[in-house]
Amino acid sequence: MRVISIINLKGGVGKTFTAANMAHILNNQGKRVLLVDNDKQGNLSKLFGVYQDVAESGTAKLLRGWYKNINDIRTVLPGYACLDIVPANMSLLQATNDLTVAAEADQVERFKPLLQAYPVIPEEPYDYVIIDNPPDLGLNVINALAVSDDVIVPTKVDAWALEGLDTIIATIDDIQQINSKLQFLGALVTMWQNDDANQAGLEWLQEKGYKLFNTRIWYGKAAAESTFFNQVITEYKPRSWTARDYRKFVAEYQGKVEQGVQ
Ligand SMILES: Nc1ncnc2c1ncn2[C@@H]1O[C@H](COP(=O)(O)OP(=O)(O)O)[C@@H](O)[C@H]1O
Ligand SMILES: [Mg+2]
Repeated sequence: MRVISIINLKGGVGKTFTAANMAHILNNQGKRVLLVDNDKQGNLSKLFGVYQDVAESGTAKLLRGWYKNINDIRTVLPGYACLDIVPANMSLLQATNDLTVAAEADQVERFKPLLQAYPVIPEEPYDYVIIDNPPDLGLNVINALAVSDDVIVPTKVDAWALEGLDTIIATIDDIQQINSKLQFLGALVTMWQNDDANQAGLEWLQEKGYKLFNTRIWYGKAAAESTFFNQVITEYKPRSWTARDYRKFVAEYQGKVEQGVQ
């Protein structure tokens, strides 16, 4: 099993989009995938049509420990072979705050049961758990990092692209003390457009020496539309450039993991 955290301290950079498309592509390869919506905005849940205005969402229950087994917190998505999701809504905010003030000994171990979670069929663990994080480093995010193998940071190459990246890398260093397998795989350039501003931003990122995925995700009109139709781009327009780029990115990710990264 591989646990992937998608994170950036900025909003609107393609985190949810990346988590959703990555999950869809891996699932199309026949992999068993569990998505975790770790953002109180619940955008990932909305994208897959499972957002509910209930008192405690799946991720809130997970964080509070208010469940008997995985079936109490996950939703099995219809129409897919083993693509499941732990949904979120605003209740995640209160759950995170309560856990923060409670200061219990297992405060950063609340996501650990995900590592033992089995799909409905077959009786084997998931191949991938993909966690879509909010643009902050609240305790729910620390819990996610505490069980993750890989951290991927979707990034728009605007003038403020690097803001927060050092903070994420420093946090990863801290969390490695409790989770030595955690690693920063790299920034993934999203919403790329071939103009001078993007080019300058990319060069700047490269000069700074941050790890970057070679694949860049092109900005696409169809991609911008796809969320309105509650579909991932790899489903809505599988032959679009953006969908192709995401498939290339997933292949690059899998290659890195096979080679043991570094
Ligand atoms: N490659 C892309 N091309 C065009 N629009 C995109 C692309 N990736 C994401 N978007 C759009 O950008 C918006 C923000 O993306 P989202 O994944 O929700 O960001 P975040 O989770 O980082 O806040 C969404 O409306 C999404 O449809
Ligand atoms: Mg998001």
